Amino acid sequence: MTRTGPRRVALVTGAARGLGRSHAVRLAADGLDVVALDLCGPVETVPYPAATAADLAETVSAVEGHGARCLALQSDVRDAAAMEKATEAALAEFGRVDVVVANAGVSSFGRVWELTPQQWREVLDVNLTGVFHTVRPVVPAMIEAGRGGAIVLVSSIAGLAALPNVAHYTAAKHGVTGLMRSLAVELAPYGIRANSVHPTTVDTPMVQNPAFYALAGATTREHAARAYRRSNALPVPWIGAGDVSDAVAWLASDAAAFVTGTALPVDAGALLPFRVPHG
Ligand SMILES: NC(=O)c1ccc[n+]([C@@H]2O[C@H](COP(=O)([O-])OP(=O)(O)OC[C@H]3O[C@@H](n4cnc5c(N)ncnc54)[C@H](O)[C@@H]3O)[C@@H](O)[C@H]2O)c1
Repeated sequence: MTRTGPRRVALVTGAARGLGRSHAVRLAADGLDVVALDLCGPVETVPYPAATAADLAETVSAVEGHGARCLALQSDVRDAAAMEKATEAALAEFGRVDVVVANAGVSSFGRVWELTPQQWREVLDVNLTGVFHTVRPVVPAMIEAGRGGAIVLVSSIAGLAALPNVAHYTAAKHGVTGLMRSLAVELAPYGIRANSVHPTTVDTPMVQNPAFYALAGATTREHAARAYRRSNALPVPWIGAGDVSDAVAWLASDAAAFVTGTALPVDAGALLPFRVPHG
């Protein structure tokens, strides 16, 4: 649908790189202005390199390349007060927020009994409580504006099924699914929709690193590709960030005007109950 009138505005967390950058750029291409928020720094127990301020600047350039305005915010979704300030900054800059994509996330790896309390805490704090902190301050402004809106929470196949070596991540992503369902019920009277996306492995820095390869006994991208190919029904080891952004952009759009409370896998069939060894 071609829209006329004021441009809509999307707040995207974890926007410096990977999926978040892809969502931000895709929404800009669809005609939205963007608030691109990211920590741009390490989370202590995460065993792969952190995004940087330069990464976030690259997102800004790519968003602006589509003729959209972009407000970059360096904030931590674990910090409730900082996320309140982020909403204030978004409203001061654009006067509205129509779409929220709660995408920031981290992982670390180990079996349940090997995870330290700090690893558990940090993954729950970023991946679940961070999503709560993201939506909490912005929802009242969306209700007040009376224009409806769309909230998309980035969960994972680990939000719908068990994955080994990431119990904290699996618990957090299942929690995100529940939070999405609560939001959908509570916000429906205001015409605000809430949905979640559940990607299989995606080709981003979260997985293209030695710590993630080691889970499959791999040391290189090629070796890992052979291993991760076996977790999807479709014959791919991972999907691209843009494949997930397609789903996010659809859920954020009027084309999904009557889709709410949906947990949408973008999973190359990873969640199918296939039992025949393949690869
Ligand atoms: N890559 C995958 O295979 C995959 C699969 C399913 C779901 N996901 C989910 O997709 C989302 C994006 O992951 P990705 O693969 O792009 O990872 P990534 O590491 O490439 O990007 C994550 C971004 O989130 C930011 N971030 C981390 N902690 C933050 C915090 N406390 N506050 C603000 N920003 C913070 C990082 O700085 C980084 O820019 C995550 O929620 C992840 O769990 C990823």
